[in-house]
Amino acid sequence: PIRVAILISGRGSNMQVLAETIAAEKLPVDLCSVLSNRADAAGLDWARARGLPAEVLSHRGFDSREAFDAALRERLDALAPDYILLAGFMRVLGADLVRHFDGRIVNIHPSLLPAFPGLHTHAQALAQGVQWHGCTVHFVTPVLDHGPIIAQGAIPVLADDTPDTLAARLLPVEHQIYAQVLRWLAQGRVRLLADGRVEVAQAPHRAWAG
Ligand code: GAR
Repeated sequence: PIRVAILISGRGSNMQVLAETIAAEKLPVDLCSVLSNRADAAGLDWARARGLPAEVLSHRGFDSREAFDAALRERLDALAPDYILLAGFMRVLGADLVRHFDGRIVNIHPSLLPAFPGLHTHAQALAQGVQWHGCTVHFVTPVLDHGPIIAQGAIPVLADDTPDTLAARLLPVEHQIYAQVLRWLAQGRVRLLADGRVEVAQAPHRAWAG
């Protein structure tokens, strides 16, 4: 199995779907940590209630981002994950940390990157008047919200959409594409190409078992 750590800061609905997908589909994934930088993250309670290894590394205990990143790196090194999945983790990771785990940190972002990096993506999309909005699962690089794209999902923008209705309609799509990417990672099908794009290899042929 691959070892995976999931980093959260809040609700953790993406983390929940990932954990449920591992269990329901018996994916070869060892979920070695659900780590939050906030002790009050609701996702932690959910993880604890299911007996998942939940832990807190509060950024408040450190007086610089570098110090927090160093502690996070030390903890993650101890966990030795193959992949670190950011799922609503609202801390920007510094370049040193990102380079240390080069090609192993994956993030979900609520826009069709490269459009609308950063915060308030649904409001940004409405302000821009785009007719399609979406979400992106991508490898993390030192440039915020700009890494190689693994998967995207899109929804139409409706005339009466607000940031909240867009977010609500997008969330199930986020869950769907992040679960799909986790399956691909577990199956060893995701490859970062030298040109910075991502290749998802064909599924191995499987005989029909009916
Ligand atoms: C999700 O919409 C995710 O795409 C977004 O935060 C939400 C977390 O929800 N992430 C970012 O904005 C990253 N900059 P969740 O905690 O229920 O998964």
